[in-house]
Order: sequence, then C-alpha cells, then structure tokens
Amino acid sequence: MQSPEDLQDKTVLFGVTGGIAAYKAVEVVSALRRRGAEVMVVMTDAASELVSPLTFQTISANPVYTDMFAEPKQWNVEHIELAQRADLFAVVPATANIIAKIACGIADDFLSTTWLAFTGPRIIAPAMNANMWDNPVTQRNLRCLTGLGCEVIEPDRGRLASGAEGRGRLPEPGVITEEISSALHGDCSLSGYRILVTAGPTREYFDPVRYLSNPSSGKMGYALARAARERGAGVHLVSGPTDLSAPRGVQLHRVTSAEEMLERCRRLWPQTDALFMCAAVCDYRPARHSEQKIKKDEGQLGEMVRTPDIVTTLSEESGKRFILGFAAETDEVAGTERAVDKMRRKGMDMIALNPVGEARGFGMDANRVVLIDDEGSESLPEMHKLPLARGIVDRVVRVLSV
Ligand code: C5P
Repeated sequence: MQSPEDLQDKTVLFGVTGGIAAYKAVEVVSALRRRGAEVMVVMTDAASELVSPLTFQTISANPVYTDMFAEPKQWNVEHIELAQRADLFAVVPATANIIAKIACGIADDFLSTTWLAFTGPRIIAPAMNANMWDNPVTQRNLRCLTGLGCEVIEPDRGRLASGAEGRGRLPEPGVITEEISSALHGDCSLSGYRILVTAGPTREYFDPVRYLSNPSSGKMGYALARAARERGAGVHLVSGPTDLSAPRGVQLHRVTSAEEMLERCRRLWPQTDALFMCAAVCDYRPARHSEQKIKKDEGQLGEMVRTPDIVTTLSEESGKRFILGFAAETDEVAGTERAVDKMRRKGMDMIALNPVGEARGFGMDANRVVLIDDEGSESLPEMHKLPLARGIVDRVVRVLSV
C-alpha cells in the first residue's frame, strides 16, 4: 500500500541510541520525511559510533544534535527549543541504557536532557539482546515508562545481532513509521467506546473451489479500525478475506461468507457501542452449496438467493447505538438520493457515499466520500484512505460528543 502524506504539519524529535539496529533508524527517518514530517535527530555518543551523524543529517535535511556543549547550531538553548517545537519524541532504537536513564530522570547527555524537557507524546522502540530485554530491571523500567504514558513498540522475536534467537529485534522500519504516524494522530476522544468495524468482501461458495465475491481489498475498513483505535476506542474488526494484517491494538475476527459475518457481528454487537459497516457484503449467494466440485458439463451453477442484510439486522437490535454505513455508487448524482434513502431504510445514523468504478474505490489506496447525516453533508476530497478514515472518524467524534 502506498504511504499517505499524513505528517505534513508535524515535527518529530527522533532520538537514536547505540544499538546495532541504529542503521534501521535511517530508513524510519527517511519514511517520516516522505510522509511530510520535519524530523530533528538527536544521537547519543554510542549511536554516533555506529552510524555517522552525517547520514542522519543528510536524510533528515536538518542538523543532528549530539553534544550538550557544542556551539549552538540553530538556537541559543537548543535542547529546550527542540523540546518545545516537536509534536512527538521517538527513540529508535532504544537501548536498555537509555530506557533505564529516562525511567529515572537522568539527564547526562543531549538526548536524555531533551527527553526530560519534553512534555508531549513519547514513543520508544527498544532493541537489545534477549537476556537484556528479559532482565527484570529492564522490564521494571519499561513498566515505569508505560505508567508515565510513554508508548513502547515491543521488539520482535527472531535472529539477533549475536546470532542467537530471541526477543529483542527492532521491528521493521515500516511498522515503526506507522506507529509514529498513529501516535501523532491519536487522542482520547473515543476512549471508553467499543466499536465494531466490518471490512473487506465476503465470499459465497458454490463448491469447494468456486465462489462469488467482489474486488474489495478491505483497505478502507482497516483504515477506519485503525483511526478509531488511534482515538482511544476498543475496536473489533470483522473482516472478510483480505491480504491485510490487523492494525495494532485492534482485535481481528476473520470470516468468509455474509452469514458468518452476520453471526460474528451479532455475537459482538451487545458488547459494542457503535458500528462502522464498511464491508462489501455480497448481496447474493448460491442457494445450494455443493460438497463436490461442480462439473463443467453440468451446465449451470444453480439458483441464487439473497444474503442477510447485516446492517439492517443489527440496527433492529441496536437500541440507541450509532451506526455508520457505506453506499458505493457508480452514479454520484443519483447516488446521493439513494444514499439518503438507504441510510433511513437501514437504520443508519450516518452514511458515507463513495464513488466506485474502474479507477476508484475498490482496491485503490485513495478515495473520496460525502458524509451524510441528519445535520447535513460534508465532502471529504480525494485522499489516501488512512487520512480519509481519520476525517470520517473526526465527524463521528463530533456527532457522538453532542
Ligand atoms: O444496499 P447496499 O449494499 O448498497 O448497502 C450498503 C451498506 O449496507 C453498507 O454499509 C454495507 O456494508 C451494508 N450491507 C449489509 N449487508 C448486506 C449488504 C450490504 O450490511 N448483505
């Protein structure tokens, strides 16, 4: 999936400490820049031994800060100025040493001093030898940091620099970049809400090898699940078959057919407060499912019957819970009227009308929607599905908080 330019107005303070994984941090800085962020790199002495500050300076297009007592590069009291300018402080990789220092408030170099002066959201990506990671002192320090509101990207299990297997590997740069992007867009506006999101297509099998489906990739629904999670909601994502992995912190339930999707949603619905019904559910399924592969010369695949309408079924069981539905339309003008009618008929509180066609919608990375509810309508212009999902969730937050 192509990356969105979703960090255009953000400044990231990016600390690099002296683990061998420091070389992977170069790629994270590069990805943050491509997404539009201003990145200010701060390195410890040990990190500068492993990767040249010049590398980070070139990739970030900014001076790199290493020495408390060097001539100021841009501002008079640089660590304070940097701490005030940044929207987020990330440390990638974070060694056991820096974790211990920042957990205790030690400020004995540029990075740890700037960390102490910083008041915004913080995120660290620890990477170290497995025994150092498992050491109770490291674990205690991490608990202390998470208790203070610092987000920790857990290291992966795998082959470590020493050649041994274990937990301690820095996750891939793409994973870290996504976590930083989410942290920059997060808040607590949906904290306490539990949201059920559906995504992807359904598959309706004729026989063990043939099915009816549609080209939905699930990208919009997964982006919505992630956007809701970023705002603090507990999210259950019920997904038809897709190639996507669950956004971090989201509980994924994989299903195949419309019937299975309905069954899983009905099970989850009593424990949730809102539904974002984004799945492209097949409207028809074969009346008969053959256990054996149907022979070509049998002539036809048989009769089709309607699948259950999930959103209508859930809205009838909803009480006062909020429902956002989708209307994929190829004809946008007539589509608006049909979308309003669909919203009322299916018991939705808001509907997102999105154009689909050969070059739009299904499978694409970008889309645009018109959000319609009782208060009126709002057009969200063509953009990557992640910022689009954040825009949709923004409106939902406004509606839910009045
Ligand atoms: O009528 P149409 O399929 O265009 O309605 C779209 C909305 O209804 C979407 O929110 C879709 O997820 C939902 N839907 C459903 N169950 C179906 C078909 C569509 O919940 N069987």
